[in-house]
Parts: sequence; structure tokens; C-alpha cells
Amino acid sequence: TRGVITLDPGYKNTGSCESAITFLDGEKGILRYRGYSIEELAEKADFLEVAYLLIFGELPTKEQNDKFHDDIRAESIVDEDIKKIVDAFPKAAHPMGVIASLTSALTSFNPSSVNVNSEEAMYKSVVRILGKFPVLVAWTFRKKEGLPLDYGDNEIGYVENILKMMFRKPNGEYKQNKILVDALDKLLILHADHEQNCSTSTVRIVGSSHAGLFASLSAGISALWGPLHGGANQAVLEMLEAIKADDGDTKKYMAKAKDKSDPFRLMGFGHRVYKNFDPRAKIIKKAADEVLADLGVEDPILDIAKGLEKEALEDQYFVDRRLYPNVDFYSGIIYRAMGIPTDMFTVMFALGRLPGWIAQWREMRLRKEPIGRPRQVYIGETERKFIPVEER
Ligand code: SDX
Repeated sequence: TRGVITLDPGYKNTGSCESAITFLDGEKGILRYRGYSIEELAEKADFLEVAYLLIFGELPTKEQNDKFHDDIRAESIVDEDIKKIVDAFPKAAHPMGVIASLTSALTSFNPSSVNVNSEEAMYKSVVRILGKFPVLVAWTFRKKEGLPLDYGDNEIGYVENILKMMFRKPNGEYKQNKILVDALDKLLILHADHEQNCSTSTVRIVGSSHAGLFASLSAGISALWGPLHGGANQAVLEMLEAIKADDGDTKKYMAKAKDKSDPFRLMGFGHRVYKNFDPRAKIIKKAADEVLADLGVEDPILDIAKGLEKEALEDQYFVDRRLYPNVDFYSGIIYRAMGIPTDMFTVMFALGRLPGWIAQWREMRLRKEPIGRPRQVYIGETERKFIPVEER
């Protein structure tokens, strides 16, 4: 329903806004991008089509779609000076820190203060960042792996090229795997937007000061990094690995997650809005099954994940708090099957979320929203007189 926001009793509404981009119903587990269900989009659209839909509000016609792909392809060259920044990072630098810096650095190579009221200028900035960001993602990965940087191959599809830029060997050897390309395309669609989550709210509030698009995206990447947010996909795999190393003792980790004196939480479970299954988790779980079966991969981590999920769904503590698997619970299993290391998982989340951040930034600027300035409830000292240090 338009214009009505119904919140759970006791919902912690940490600052809301009006938006026409993504609709969530936490009770019913519904997610729609510009009115289209996530289930239909994940099955029938490709990632750039969904990016166009989120940013410009309509699914592209064939002509618009072809032009969008071509214009993005034409923007997939990154200024050679950016390589100097990549080289300057220590190998141990966390990929999220690298990609946030590179994105912000793009500002100096591209006009960041885009004129949102000019369709042409906005379109140019959109294709520029969608063209360049996957190259920065691939370079971030290859820097970490000690591999020479690679531009991939502009003759192939957008998502195909992401995997090729990441995994092509220095001798040029590379074998494309359609199963993995389709799985990544689906994962990127499922991560593309999610209403006013922590990182999107960050992009909106930073952009509300009229900071440039690229700088606002860089801020969103930093917010996504946290293990309570996008960093959870890395934390899930680390948790599952720890359980595996602990003889698969899921009961021990369930007990830890319920122990109030223990800061441990079951990563990949719970959500501020979904008090039912995260619809994305259902699709990703099915995709994880299919990908591993198609690849003929037996991954004990998937079995541990399924066992943990079953226990949590039957556990009264979790049932009472309506804690279900979220988008991050199964995604890492697919990334792992692609050969992506855990500390790159959140970078892949940022790659998927990019169109949503752009769409939300553009919407906020087109609506001429004022600079973000949350108020507070002051709970500090009342007025008091200064005491010279000798008398304290
Ligand atoms: C994402 O907002 C979005 O849309 C985000 C996202 C997106 O697409 O942008 O969907 C992506 O960030 C998904 C969430 C990924 N994070 C995790 O998986 C980390 C583990 N989850 C939790 O930390 C937690 O569930 C949050 C952060 C996701 C939500 O936190 P809330 O809404 O603030 O929940 P809460 O802290 O108020 O918890 C309510 C109760 C508490 O117990 P009580 O004090 O009522 O006794 O549930 C408990 C919590 O202790 N609880 C958990 C738990 N999550 C909540 N207990 C154990 N394990 C958990 N994972």
C-alpha cells in the first residue's frame, strides 16, 4: 500500500524517509524492486537490467538495455594512475578498505558533483561507476592474491567479465563456467537494494550534504563492512569453519548465541525488518544447493549450515525472537564455490548493492531533501560551573 508505513510494536525506527524504490514487508517476507517481486527478477532478469530498473524506475526496453550495456562496457577503463593507488596498499590491507579508497579516489578522475537534474549527466555518472567498479573489485582481489591487474574481456557479458577479470591466470588461461556466472548474476540481483538499511542510509545522509556520488558510495562501503551488516557474510563462513573445526558441534554455538554474557551471535540469523524468512535467503539456499550439485562439489560447510538452520528454526529462543536466516547465511557458500576468499565476500556484497545505493542517492537528491541532521535526546549533565584544576 502506498504511503503507509506499519511498524511492529516496539520496532526500533532509527530514522525513516519516503522512497519509491524498494518495498519490504517484514511480516510476510516480501521484497519488491519498483513493484517487481525479487523472485521474478532473480529468475527472469539480469543484473544490469535490474540496475536500470532500480536507478531509472522502469525495466529498460531492448534498445535502452543494449545501449546501457554498451555504454557501461565503454566505461570499463580505469585511469592508469589508479593502479599506483592499488600498488601503494600493503598486501594485508582488508579488501573493503581498498575498494572504499579506490571508489573515493575515482572522484578525482571523474566529476563527482553530478548535476542530478540533468538526465544526461546522471546517466553518464551511472554508466561510469557501473563500468569502473567491477574493475576495482577485480583489482582489489588480484592485488590481495599477488596477481597482475587484468581488464578482462569487453566482448563478453558484464557478470562473465567480472569473474574473468578476477580469475584469468597471468598466462591468459581461463575457463568460463556458466553455472557460476548465472549464480553470481542472481546473487548480485538479490543484493541490489534493500530499502533504508544501514549502508544505504549512510549513502543518503552523506549525499544529503551534496558530497559527490562517488564519495557517498565510498561511505556506504565502509558502513557495509561491519559484521552486523554486510560483513556478516564473511562472519558466517568464519563461524561455520569454527563449528567444523569443533567437530561440527552446532549445539555449542547455539548455546553461545543464547548466552547473554557471551557477545557471540549466530551470524547470518536475525533481521531488523524480516520477522519471517528473508525471501532472498530462500532463493540463495536453493541456488547454493544447485551450484554445488552442478559442480559436483561436496561442501561439508553446507551440511553444517543446513544443520544449524534446522536447529535454530526449532529452538524456542530463536522462535520467540523470530530469528530466521538472512541474506548472508548462504551467500558465502556460493562465493566459496566460485573460489572467492572470505575477506572478499563483503566486496561482492558492495558490488551487488551498488545500483541500490546509486538509485537511493539519486532519489534523495531529486527530491531536494535537506541535509541529514538527526536530533538527540540529551541525557548528559545539567549546567555546571568550571572548577580550576587546583581545586578539583
Ligand atoms: C544485513 O537492514 C538490512 O536490510 C540489512 C541487510 C541488507 O540487505 O542491507 O538485510 C543485510 O545486514 C543482514 C543482517 C546481517 N547480520 C547478521 O547476520 C549478524 C547477526 N544478526 C544480528 O546481529 C541481528 O539480528 C541484526 C543486527 C541483524 C538485527 O539486530 P536488531 O534488529 O537490532 O535485533 P536485536 O539486537 O534487537 O535482537 C533482538 C533479540 C535480542 O535478544 P533479547 O535482548 O530480546 O533477549 O534477538 C537477539 C538479540 O540478542 N538476536 C540474536 C541474533 N540476532 C538478534 N541472538 C543470537 N543470534 C543472532 N543472530
